[in-house]
Amino acid sequence: MKKVIERHPFEVKIKTFLSLKNKKETIMEQEKLKDLLKQMTLEEKIGQMTQLTPTFFSESGEITGPMLELGLSLEQLNSIGTVLGTHTKEEVINIQKNYLEQSRLKIPLIFMADVIHGYETIFPIPLALASSFNPKLVKRMAHLSAKEAAAAGIHVTFSPMADLVRDARWGRVLESNGEDPHLNTIMTKAYVEGYQGDGLTNKQNIAACVKHFVGYGESQGGKDYNTVDMSDVVLFQDHLPSFKAAIDAGAKLVMSSFNLFRGVPVTASHYLLTEVLRDHLAFDGVVISDWAAVSELVQHRVADSKASASKKAFEAGVEIDMMTDFYLNSLPDLVKSGEVSEQMIDETVMRILELKNELGLFEDPYRGLNDNFTIEEDLRLESRKIATESMVLLKNNDQVLPLKPTEKIGLAGSKATSRDTLGAWSWIGEIDASIAIAEAFAETEMIVDLAEQIVDFDRFQLVDKVVIAVGETGTEAGEAASKTNIKLTPQDIETVKQIYQWNKNIVLVVYSGRPLDLTDIEPYVKAILYAWFPGSEAGRAIVDVLTGKTNPSAKLPISLPRSVGQMPLHYNHYSTGRPFNEENPTIRYMSRYLDVMEGPLYPFGHGLNYSEIELIEANIVDKQNKFIVHYTLSNKSDVDGQEVVQFYIRDCVSEVVRPVRELKHFEKVSVKANGFYQGSFEITIDNLAYVHSDLKRFTDPGKFELYLGFDSNAPKLGEWEYQG
Ligand code: NOJ
Repeated sequence: MKKVIERHPFEVKIKTFLSLKNKKETIMEQEKLKDLLKQMTLEEKIGQMTQLTPTFFSESGEITGPMLELGLSLEQLNSIGTVLGTHTKEEVINIQKNYLEQSRLKIPLIFMADVIHGYETIFPIPLALASSFNPKLVKRMAHLSAKEAAAAGIHVTFSPMADLVRDARWGRVLESNGEDPHLNTIMTKAYVEGYQGDGLTNKQNIAACVKHFVGYGESQGGKDYNTVDMSDVVLFQDHLPSFKAAIDAGAKLVMSSFNLFRGVPVTASHYLLTEVLRDHLAFDGVVISDWAAVSELVQHRVADSKASASKKAFEAGVEIDMMTDFYLNSLPDLVKSGEVSEQMIDETVMRILELKNELGLFEDPYRGLNDNFTIEEDLRLESRKIATESMVLLKNNDQVLPLKPTEKIGLAGSKATSRDTLGAWSWIGEIDASIAIAEAFAETEMIVDLAEQIVDFDRFQLVDKVVIAVGETGTEAGEAASKTNIKLTPQDIETVKQIYQWNKNIVLVVYSGRPLDLTDIEPYVKAILYAWFPGSEAGRAIVDVLTGKTNPSAKLPISLPRSVGQMPLHYNHYSTGRPFNEENPTIRYMSRYLDVMEGPLYPFGHGLNYSEIELIEANIVDKQNKFIVHYTLSNKSDVDGQEVVQFYIRDCVSEVVRPVRELKHFEKVSVKANGFYQGSFEITIDNLAYVHSDLKRFTDPGKFELYLGFDSNAPKLGEWEYQG
């Protein structure tokens, strides 16, 4: 096969240290930072490479319980480099002030936090945001939450999570962009652009730390912190592109992941953290470990002491040790005995100082806190708008939705009055400040009859339609929230079945941090609105969509299964030697399960709206080394709507086995009521390239099948041949 685009994974890019515009200024700053470095003792340098929580910093300047537990001295505390997880602006000011008074060189602390989908105002969970298929929306969410976090003294967020996730059992699917590498890449980039905005000199922007590098999404059995074992081809093809996008967009930090790769914990993987991250992806920012991961090298039994774990992690490429004393209490001796190079320590500390400098902390350690910035946007309103675009209308038989203002509505279900709508990683957002569905209905003119007890359900024979809100609680998805059962609770299922006896016009609203198995109740309901965890304005956003105030436009970023036994389930699985034959599903010797229908209940990319948008025309125009797809949509309804046009390919013959379908392009477009929309996009041979067995990424000459439509079952549009 002829190689056309050839890019070896280990091709080294030219490194650009410091992204300051003016070169002279860069050199001067570098000189100042170098001078500072020269003044630092070895212990002070290693202090910069440790991160602790606020509980370590007492106002009295005395040794506290947490310090005793970790065996830290006051000198060590006064040389710490970064803090994780402050709660208020006042807390940041106090810690910074006391620290600057006590520490010898007065190098300001950086404050980092998990600002994942909002700070105080909570937006939809990342999986919901990915459902919008709208990167501009994600960018806006990141921009707004950066502003709110920056006003509370946060400088760095541990977001975006760029892990590709295909297993609904894994609680952290909630933090992901779902199962598709292309969607994941586009969304990851949008987060970084949103957080970092026009640069860190703007004090309302914060730095992004992309995580978890890399492979964590493939935890075996969907069990958190579990083993990962994947091929390099899968790593390069599916897992690295989102990280590459974040790095190319300028993400300042990378967090290493808890999992193994090639049998080695990533925290100790020189291959991943140096050869792949630094040399291949040309990352020149700061690498931080995940929480206590350096000490976990001992639990993994690849190290037997603080010293051996620290040496492995540091030499692999971990620069900041999050929440252990391993670096603090062992690196100084390792350097003194010549086992670890001080020059490497210096390079690391320089990078941390550069980040502090870029954040403007040397000029203003209270970055943004003295400026009394106002946030012009109404964050609650923004959260509501973003939430309406992030919930997926999976089913709408007989056009039971939207609800009409004149209709009498019944409301029931475990979540009808629940304010538990924020989802994991909303540690500053208050549950009590969020809006339940019942509360939002009460703000409308509609007649809504709320029935909370099964004995009251007979009342529903008197209403036109019944909205039943069910789903997970906020603590059921997120970190350390893996599950083997992804069905609704028996109570939720019973509620639906009981109400069905009285009224068949059931609209199901589902709160969840993962794709749930809805097969038990799907036949009983006419409509399903998959709301995920929509955030602070959940109830209002849900009512906006149910009543048609907002036309839904979201799509599934992850397949909705028929059974937990299908995990990992994703549309873009690899071709098999014995593919499932839809025309003859009774054939035994093919890749299938005996006890469940093949494929998902609802596929990746699926989502309905209240308009009638159709693809009425599409064609391909061949250009050299690329082609253009032209298409026309019509909207036959009286409602303005949005559709996500999705373009998939299948490589007809390839050197390594490829997915049966791959999303290569999507665009969300508006189509006016009774109107048309004409669009086009370009696909280049670079978009068609894939990672070969030698890990080189290029395009082979040959044919590709092309599909265009509104979900991952899009019909075939035609074929295109790359001549080479
Ligand atoms: C552990 C989690 O894995 C990571 O995502 C998070 O950023 C850190 N804890 C800090 O809270």
